[in-house]
Amino acid sequence: MDYEATLARLAAIGQEHLLDYYEELSPDGRTALLDDVERTDFSVLSSIGSEGDRTVGELTPADMLGLKEIEKRRGEFEKIGLKAIREGKIAAVLLAGGQGSRLGWDGPKGTFDIGVSRELPIFACQMENVKEVAKKAGYNFRVFIMTSSINDAATRDFFARHGYFGYDKDKISFFVQDMTPACDFSGKVLLSEKYAPALVPNGNGGWYVSLVKGGYKEILDKEGIEWLNVYGVDNVLQKICDPVFVGATLSAGVNCSGKVVAKACPEEKVGVLCKEDGAPTVIEYTELKDEQRYARDEEGNLLFGAGVILNYIFSVKKLDEIGGEKLPYHIARKKVSYIKEGKKVVPDEPNAYKFELLAVDLVKLMGNCLGFEVVREREFAPVKNATGVDSVDTARELLKANGVKL
Ligand code: UTP
Repeated sequence: MDYEATLARLAAIGQEHLLDYYEELSPDGRTALLDDVERTDFSVLSSIGSEGDRTVGELTPADMLGLKEIEKRRGEFEKIGLKAIREGKIAAVLLAGGQGSRLGWDGPKGTFDIGVSRELPIFACQMENVKEVAKKAGYNFRVFIMTSSINDAATRDFFARHGYFGYDKDKISFFVQDMTPACDFSGKVLLSEKYAPALVPNGNGGWYVSLVKGGYKEILDKEGIEWLNVYGVDNVLQKICDPVFVGATLSAGVNCSGKVVAKACPEEKVGVLCKEDGAPTVIEYTELKDEQRYARDEEGNLLFGAGVILNYIFSVKKLDEIGGEKLPYHIARKKVSYIKEGKKVVPDEPNAYKFELLAVDLVKLMGNCLGFEVVREREFAPVKNATGVDSVDTARELLKANGVKL
């Protein structure tokens, strides 16, 4: 698209300021800017103002397998899970396209070194678990890693430099997620450079669409991969393709399952797996009314206490069935560097809206979802912040408590 046509397109949606520096750009810079604008989907901006509009339906607790029941049936589940892994029916999908802005680490979050006296990147923690499970099952299952165009090269390079952490290199594949524009609070898209609109990863909900776009559907079909275990990069106690979890999911005849931990307290700010008007959902902590937040069952457990930890198993068949369904964009306030009066500004506080698709919205479309309870201290050590709650310090303590040498 040429300059005039691009200007007209942008003017029609009130974004013509993106060409403010066009005149001072080199020919390459001009081409890059026009190309970026052409590729950008500005329609996401229309979701501004729609947040908070949602009316929450009737909430009921999730279908759950609690700790006691799991303990009783552990042997049976594990056997089924190990068999499925050995037969190549399940693969792992690591969501690693986020920017980890709260951690403030300049690089892919998985490259953050959580070690103290030795090097222990987050990726290594997780790959240790992958190797353990693969060894037990006697089969190296596939690991698909979602990156973004911002961290893709650095992530691939890190895996290569670390010898794929001793795993079968041919079983690790990378795919890149989509990007969306970030805008200021008045809806104007930011420039990250004079020649580039600020494009940021579009959230973790588009992972299946991006996996297919990346060309991996063929592998799923050819190898008979029927299940995908999707997990976040920022939990250093993450258990990947946990055979007991896999076995429980397959035995339950569901389309989807999610690991959950009992909420530490009613006020804990964590999404809760439950049902809304009979369909599975992950409700945000802000969406629970007080009477729901504090409600308890006969045993004294919170009725809505199944806190999600971003570890789900999805049926590939069901994902294909719902393929065409669009997920809603959620708006998050984040820090995004931008150009102002010709100079780069690195904000200290959130200054921009990001538009994100969320993996939890896929759960809603799966028809059913089994909650699988795990012990928080053994499986949930999130690294979200540099200090304080869910931080490097708290994750290190939890790793130590689980016998990991730091
Ligand atoms: P978070 O919600 O913590 O987002 O991601 P983030 O971008 O990594 O971190 P902050 O909010 O800027 O501090 C939860 C999981 O989803 C992945 C992350 O990599 C992490 O595993 N994710 C998030 C993506 O893969 N893509 C995204 O666009 C966003």
